[in-house]
This record gives sequence, C-alpha cells and structure tokens, in this order.
Amino acid sequence: MLEFWLNGQQVQAPKAAADRTLLAFLRDVQGLTSAKDGCSGEGTCGCCAVLVDGKVALACRRSVESVDDRQVVTVEGLKPLEQEILRDSFVKNGAVQCGFCTPGIVVRAHALLHKYAQSKKALGREDIRRALSGHTCRCTGYQRIVDAIIQAGTDILDAPSVDVRTNEVIIAEGARLIDRTGAETMLGEAGPAAASGVGGSLSNYRAGEKVLGRKDFLADVKAPPRLLHGAVVFSPVPRCRVVAVNKSAALAVDGVVAVLTAADVPGERHIGLLSKDWPLFVAPGEETRCVGDVLALVVGESADIARRASQEIVIEHEKLAPLTSPAAALADGAHKLHPGGNLLETCAFRRGDVEKALKSSDVVIEETFVTQRIEHAFLEPEAAIAAPAGDGVKVLSQGQGVHDDRRQIASILGVDEAVVDVELVSNGGAFGGKEDLSIQGQTALAAFLLGRPVKTVLSREESLLLHPKRHPLTLAYTVGADRSGKLLGARVRIVGDTGAYASVGTKVMERAAGHSMGPYQVDSVDVEAKTVYTNNPPCGAMRGFGANQAAFAIEGVLDRIAARVGIDGLKIRRINLLTPGDRFATGQRMGQSAKGLSRCLDAVARSYQHARFAGIACGIKNTGIGNGQADIGRVLLSVTDTARIQAFTGFTEMGQGLFTIIQQVVAEETGLDPSLIDVSTRSLPEVECGMTTASRATALSTKAAKRAAVKLNEALRGNAPLEQLAGQNFHGEFICDITTAPDADTDEPVTHMAFSFAAQVVVLNDDGRLERVIAAHDVGRAINPVQCSGQIEGGVHMGLGYALSEDFPCVDAKPVVSKLGDLGIIKAKDTPTIDVIIIEEPDEVGGYGSKGVGEIGLVPTAGAVAGALNSYDGKWRTTLPMTDSEAAKGLRSPGARKAAVSVVRGRVGE
Ligand code: FES
Repeated sequence: MLEFWLNGQQVQAPKAAADRTLLAFLRDVQGLTSAKDGCSGEGTCGCCAVLVDGKVALACRRSVESVDDRQVVTVEGLKPLEQEILRDSFVKNGAVQCGFCTPGIVVRAHALLHKYAQSKKALGREDIRRALSGHTCRCTGYQRIVDAIIQAGTDILDAPSVDVRTNEVIIAEGARLIDRTGAETMLGEAGPAAASGVGGSLSNYRAGEKVLGRKDFLADVKAPPRLLHGAVVFSPVPRCRVVAVNKSAALAVDGVVAVLTAADVPGERHIGLLSKDWPLFVAPGEETRCVGDVLALVVGESADIARRASQEIVIEHEKLAPLTSPAAALADGAHKLHPGGNLLETCAFRRGDVEKALKSSDVVIEETFVTQRIEHAFLEPEAAIAAPAGDGVKVLSQGQGVHDDRRQIASILGVDEAVVDVELVSNGGAFGGKEDLSIQGQTALAAFLLGRPVKTVLSREESLLLHPKRHPLTLAYTVGADRSGKLLGARVRIVGDTGAYASVGTKVMERAAGHSMGPYQVDSVDVEAKTVYTNNPPCGAMRGFGANQAAFAIEGVLDRIAARVGIDGLKIRRINLLTPGDRFATGQRMGQSAKGLSRCLDAVARSYQHARFAGIACGIKNTGIGNGQADIGRVLLSVTDTARIQAFTGFTEMGQGLFTIIQQVVAEETGLDPSLIDVSTRSLPEVECGMTTASRATALSTKAAKRAAVKLNEALRGNAPLEQLAGQNFHGEFICDITTAPDADTDEPVTHMAFSFAAQVVVLNDDGRLERVIAAHDVGRAINPVQCSGQIEGGVHMGLGYALSEDFPCVDAKPVVSKLGDLGIIKAKDTPTIDVIIIEEPDEVGGYGSKGVGEIGLVPTAGAVAGALNSYDGKWRTTLPMTDSEAAKGLRSPGARKAAVSVVRGRVGE
C-alpha cells in the first residue's frame, strides 16, 4: 500500500492506484471536491492546486505514487481561521464570480502568503500577479483576486509591509464611483444605499462556499445509487459519409452497459435553438459536418470504463472534402451542407441615400476588417446528470436556459415537456457557450432508455470540440464623412462563418449588422450581413454577440477618418456620438437614457488626452433579444415551511450575480434579510424566461422580482408573519413586447428594449505594452456595484485577449488548438490595471433603471487597443488578433504560437 497524510489524516492507496492522478484519487476515492478538473491534465488552469509538503502542486499532474509518505493539504484541510480569513477577503473584494477557479487560487494564496511571511519580504501586486500565472480565471480579470490576497495578507498571516495599492478612483462629474472593494461609494443622485438592498454590494450568492470549494459543481455531485457514466464518440474527421458505427468491440468491454446511436432516439433526432439542423447523433448513411459531431454515447459502470470503451468504437466512413470558408461554401457548385443551401440568412437594411452621401463626402474610407474565431473557455467543462423520473427524466444541468433544455430534451425523448424537469446545479462560466444543448440530450436519453441515472462529463478537449465559438467575420466598410469628421453615409458588407450548424448564428449576424455603426449617428446606411454554413466548428452566442466584431471595424474607421481630417480620437467621437432622439443604425430612435453615452466619453477624456500612447473607443450593446420577440422575466417566490423564501427564476446564474440581485430586490421591497432568501433555476412553467442571453437577465429579473416581492410585502404588511405564509407563492412577471420585427413596415422601428453604453481608453507604456485600461460604463443602475464592476473588469480582460492574443484557428475545418493553455487567454501577470467608472443614466425599461452589463465590457476594447497600437507604432491594423504588436509579445503560449504557424502552413497548402 501507498501511504500519505491527507489534511492531517493518514490515508492509504493500493499500489495498483500508483499511476492514478492525485486529482482523481482526491475526488473519486476521498470525496474531496474542492480541487476541480478544468483542463483535463494539461496543468494550465490551476483549479486542482493542492499543497504537497507545503508547496503548491497541481493534483492533475501528480500521481498518487508521487505523494507517497508526503503531506497533502487541500482547501478542506487549511486551518479553520485561515479558511475563514481567505473566504472573507475573497467574498468582500468581489473576487468570486462563477467560483470554479477559486479554491485552487485560495491554495496558491495561502502558500504565497506563508512564503512571504516567513521570508519577511514585502509582497506587492506584481508578485501576486506572477504567482497567479499557473491559474486561469475567465471571469474576473484578476485584479479583485489580487486585492483579496492582499487583504488576506494584511488580515491574517503577519505578512510584513504588504503593499496595498491606493484605491484608484477616477472622478467624473455626477458619476458613481467605486473603489476596488466597493466599500466606499461616492453616490450620485441615488443617495446612500443599504448594503443588502438595490444599489448595495451584497456578497455574491453562496460566494463563501464557492471560495472554499463547498458548493458543488455538476461534476462534484455525489453519485446517486446505480449511477452510470457516459462517454461521447465524435466524428473522426470534419466531413465524412458514415458507413457504420461498429459497437461490438466497445460492448465487449467489461462494465459497458450500452452504446447509444442514432437508431436509439425515440423522438426528434435533430436539435437546435432556432432551427433543428443539428443531429443528436449522426446516423449511418448521413454526412458528418464538423469534428464536434457526435456518433455514439458509450455508457458504462464507471467513467473510466465508458471512456476506454469509447476508444473501441469503430466508425466506418468515407472521408469527404470539407468546406473551410464562407467563400468556398458560397462558390458555384459547392456541395450543400443543409437542404436549404449554404447561405443560412441574409440580413439587410437601408436608410437614406448612401450613394449620394458617399459622393458628397470629403473623406471616404474603404477598409476590410477580419476577426477571428475564439473559444469561450469557461472553466467548468460541460457536464450533465440525468435520472429517470416518473414517465420522463430529471436532468441536472449547467446550461444557460433550463426551459430550452427541457423543450429539446422532451423532443428527443418523444415525451411531453411536463415530464422533463431541468434544474441548474452549477454554471462554472458560460459566456454564451452553454446556450446550445451540449451533452444533456444524450445523457437524458441514456437515463430514459436504461432506467438508471447517468452522468456525462466532458474533458477539456471534448468541450473545445463540441460547443459553438465566436463567429469569425469579414467586415467590408465604405464610410464617408465631411471635413469636420461628421459621418455622412456607410455601406457595410459582413460575412460570417457560422460553421456546421445554425445555433443562434443568424441572430449574431443580425446583431453585427445592427451594431455596425456602433454608438454613432449616421443618416444614410446600407448594411448587409450574410450567415454562411461551412464545415468549421459551429459558431453561436458569445459575450458581445456580433457587436464586438462590428465595434472593432467602426472604431477603426473612425480613427482613420480622424487622422485624415486632422482631429483626435476623442473629438471625432464627440462629433458623431448618438444623443437622445438620434437614430441607431437600424433606425431606432435613442431614448433619454442615451445621455449616458456622452457621460461615458467625458469620464475617460482626460485619461486619453494625458496619455502618451492611448486609444479610445465607445461601445453600445443591446439589452434584450428584441427584433419583435418579447423579452420576458419571471420570478416565483415561495414561502417555505421553515419561514424562508425560495425564489425561482428561469435564468441561469453563471457567476454574473443574478441570484444575488434577486435577493437584493426582494430585500429592498420587503425589508427581509437577504440571508432568508434562497434562489434557484428550475424549468417550472411559472418562470419560463427563455435563454440567459443578450445582457437581459438583470433588467428583466429585477422587474419581475420586484413585482413578486411587492405582492409578498403586501401579505407581510397584512400582519402575517413569514411563518404564517408558508406554502404561499408570489409571482412576478414582466413581458417587454415593444420591439418590432426587422421586416416590420414602420418608420419608427424599435429594435431593442434597451441599450447600455461605454467608453474605454487603453494606455500603453513607453515600451508599447499594456499599462492601463479605463472603462466608463453606463449601466443605468448598478444594482450591485461590486458585481457590476466585476463584470466589466472580466469583460475587459476577455476583450484584451480578443484584441491581442486569443484565437481558435482551424486547418481543413479541424481546430489546430486542443488545449486550454493554447487559446491565448491573457494571464494575470500580463493583465493591466483596469479602472472602472460606473455611470448611472437610468433606462426607461429595465428594472430600477438598469441596463445590461454582462457583455459590453469587451465591446469597445479591441477598437481601443487598435487605436493605442496605432498611437505607438503608426500602423493601421485590420485583423484580429493583433499579434504583430509590441503589446502582444509574450502573451501567447508556445503551443498557441505553433498553432498559428501551422495555420499559415495550412493556408499555403490550400
Ligand atoms: Fe474564476 Fe469563474 S471566477 S473562472
């Protein structure tokens, strides 16, 4: 036997387990799940960090044998006082969003603080940033994590002379300002806010449990009795004709219970959020369309058995040439990927006389911008658990829309939706990548057919193959302006590679078209956006949803016009900025809340003017789907027999803080302590809201929660104590149906229910490296300033990667990158300071005046980076990521650089 000390207790492992990873041993044998699996053994995410003999080690890279006779400590084994202080500092500083990365970082923080305390050296922010290099956090932008570690150091471990950075506050008249902790807020008109009500910075829901790894993610859920495990089998190549799926060798593996394929689907085999074009399993005789196509689910008594057996599946196939670009897919004679052809949709609109406007312009800029495919890189890979329940199934999910999941699962099983119950267990980040069904459908099918619970957890590589990405776009702009820099007219042609399946690709392209003029007033526009199928990985929703790509293009156009007419980036934006009454590109008139735009620009003006090398950009992002579709928020408050409130919503909590703000609204309206309010996401008909998308969950949920809470409050004011209301429900609903369809015959279109606004400045140092980002955002009302700021910081961090280093390239329709660490995500040490300025110009529709904040954090960022690079080296750049810049040097891993080289070679080979 091998023996080691685990959290102070001696444990034994059989010699046969010597090669097993320490992570698997901790999680599967010891039931310690604070250490997470985010990268499947790559050693890049840091989620599985533990202490081995006091030093940080990645449990996914250590064998059980390697810790023989050593001391292993997980978060669960830290001293209670240290746990408490680290927990409190992370919670108070807003350093936790989805929380998947956090326990690993807590281990790192503990080791770091002890090391510095012992060495008596000063610990500064740069030391902490460097120490976090072995960790990936996709949500926070890192600086609140750094704040939390510094505070823990001051609170706890006698770390000497901790260098606490002076909180940076940018003054903007009338703006709401928050410091790093949210402890000090300089309020505008709203007045001091209660910590737990609307406008206070109540801690992220169950944040303390997330910090210490006590809140289960789906993969952590303890096995129900008789649990089976699923493993997916993907297409061997991007495009082939499937001749047969030979299961016999897999079925012969001891412990394999079943191999499910297309023939096993009792209901509708095709799924999809907008059009049902995506097969749950590709059937023999059909063609696969991408490398993420699923051909079989192997179900076994353990995850190891299922995975091992999945290697035994033989896919007989005829390899076919893939369509690797929209140009190839639209060429005459190209094979049809779907019955309707390869052009999925053309979205087009015109206003004014563009030809005349361009002819009368003093300056005309013609430029084509190219943006790349990127990956969401949420830290929690997809997972699902399904179990038979009555005539249907109960599914535990981590997706972004429990009702859409339910609808699609019922369709697959051929049962009524009423017998399918979907509950959100966790969402370790999503950013749009968990809107489509991933493996919930196959897992539910297995449970339904086999009569036993089934769990499927994807590896990182499988996750990268399966879910849709951000659309790569080509955006051709012809824009005219007068000699003052005032925009007169624009012709825009956009082509988007939506990959193998529709997902929500048409909506992304509609959004790119709608946002093609950014937050600028242009009288004459002629815009067309094509959504094109190819054999590349599907593209769908991702934070920004087409607006980011368009922003990079229009901001680049503005900077070029400014240079031509001899004004700076600030002035040209002032001249063209939308104001109330002006028309957005689609023709929608902006409401009074558009005043927030100029306030954002004013807030960053000085930073831009005073910096030697800086770029500036503005942003606009729709709140709500709109375009004639109702946006709905629903909340149900149930009083439990333990005198607590159980709040249900149909929207997903994915780290953005939705559950927290529902608590805050109920507390605000009833005066109840938020700690009495539990929140969950469940596919109840009473809370059907649709997908958690389009930055709309806050604006809609706060309104619905308020309506429910007002009813509850009336009952409470009727002198009924909470205990006496046990069993009663209070329902709140808000349906916004003010928007018009794109083809509506109206001169006053209303494309979206609301918009949020931003202005960002990116500052480079004298070496051309990222130094600082100043991000002013009009969020309407910051329901929770710390969480709001955290969304923006995380968005900016993602936007910097989008600008400089992130990519998910394909050669011959096959992704070149298969590792999290090679996606080009910017590390903590390379992340500049991000100063957030929150502006509150109330929206006319959103609850308490709120506008969306989930996506806009990165809408202006790439444009601002491009401007900053131009100010440094004079180059105009048109293609993302801008890897040729000084700012991009060293941001990508050797694997990512190698991938880029292979893409160039692949193109040459083509
Ligand atoms: Fe770090 Fe979500 S909080 S990955």
